Amino acid sequence: MISVSNLSVGFSGSYLFEDISFLINKQDRIGLAGKNGAGKSTLLKILAGFQNPSKGEVSKPNDCTVGYLPQDMVHNLGKTVFDETATAFNEVKKLEASISNITHQLETRTDYESDDYMNLITQLNEAHERLDIIGAGSINEKIELTLLGLGFERKDFTRLTDEFSGGWRMRIELAKILLQKPNVVLLDEPTNHLDIESILWLEEFLKNYYGAVVMVSHDKRFLDNLTTRTIEISMGQIFDYRSNYSKYLVLRKERKEQQEAAAKNQQKYIDKTQQLIDKYRAKANKASFAQSLIKKLDKIEIVEVDSRITPAYIFVFRRLHDQVK
Ligand SMILES: Nc1ncnc2c1ncn2[C@@H]1O[C@H](COP(=O)(O)OP(=O)(O)OP(=O)(O)O)[C@@H](O)[C@H]1O
Ligand SMILES: [Mg+2]
Repeated sequence: MISVSNLSVGFSGSYLFEDISFLINKQDRIGLAGKNGAGKSTLLKILAGFQNPSKGEVSKPNDCTVGYLPQDMVHNLGKTVFDETATAFNEVKKLEASISNITHQLETRTDYESDDYMNLITQLNEAHERLDIIGAGSINEKIELTLLGLGFERKDFTRLTDEFSGGWRMRIELAKILLQKPNVVLLDEPTNHLDIESILWLEEFLKNYYGAVVMVSHDKRFLDNLTTRTIEISMGQIFDYRSNYSKYLVLRKERKEQQEAAAKNQQKYIDKTQQLIDKYRAKANKASFAQSLIKKLDKIEIVEVDSRITPAYIFVFRRLHDQVK
C-alpha cells in the first residue's frame, strides 16, 4: 500500500532517522512508539506528504488516498460545525460530476471499439466503486452520526466552529477524515482532546475500518485494543513488532536485556584483549601479535544498547583508533 524505502531525515547535520524501510499493508493497525522527540510526528508528516525526507522515498499507488490528523494544526473558521464537516464530501460531489460527465460521453460517442471508450468505462467503474465506499447512504445522516459519536450535541451543529475550543475543532477535523474514508488514516495523538466516550466510539469505528490506520497515542488501552503492529523509533532506527503496545513493551524489555548481556560479554572480551595488547606491544618478539589484536579489536562492531552508548565504549573506540593510527 505505502512503501517507505531507505528514508533518512536530518536536521542541522544530525539524523532523526537513517535509512529506514518498511511497508504499510492494506489493513494494518500500526502504533508508532518512541520517546518524546524521537520523530513520530515527523514520520507521520512525511507519510502524509507534508514534509520531504532528506533521502529515500515514500511511494504509494496513485489511487491511494491518505487522511492525516496532525498533532497541532490551524483550523478553518467561518462555517457552522455541520457545514465544515460536510466539506469532507467534496470528493463525493466531484465523483458525481465525473460520473455524469462520463455517462454523457458514453451515451453520445460511437467509437465503441476504441481504447478511449474502454478507458471511459474503466473510469466509470472506478468512480462508482469509490462512491460506494464513501458516499453510500445518506450523507447528512453520516455526518450526524460521526459528530454525535465524537461528542457533539445536535444543538452544536448550527453553531460556528469559531465558538469552539481547539480541542473541539480537532474533533471536527477528525470527523472529516473519518467521513472521507481514505485508504490510509494517519492520526497523531487523536485521543488527546477526546473524553472517554468519544475514545470508545473512535476505537469501535477504527476497529471496523476498511483501510490501514497508523497512529501515535499515549493512551495505552486505546492502542492495545486497536493495534496489531508497533513500530518503535529509537536512535534513528525503527524496530517493527507484530504485536500491540503491551506485548511490544515486553518484547522490547527482552530485546534490551539481550543487548545488555551481549554488550557486557563484548566488553569483557575487549578488556581481556586490551590487557594482552598492553602486555605484549612493548616486547619485540610479540609486537606483531599485539598489532594483530589491535586490528581485531578495531574491526569489532560495538553492540549498542538502546539510548545508551556509554562513555566507556566511546573511550574504547578512541583508544583503539589512536593505537591503529
Ligand atoms: N523542521 C525541523 N527543523 C529542525 N528540527 C526539527 C524539525 N522538525 C522536527 N524537528 C526536531 O525533530 C525531533 C523530532 O520531532 P517530532 O515532533 O517528530 O517528535 P515526536 O516523536 O513526535 O515527539 P512528541 O512525542 O513530543 O510528539 C525534535 O527534536 C524536533 O525538535
Ligand atoms: Mg509528536
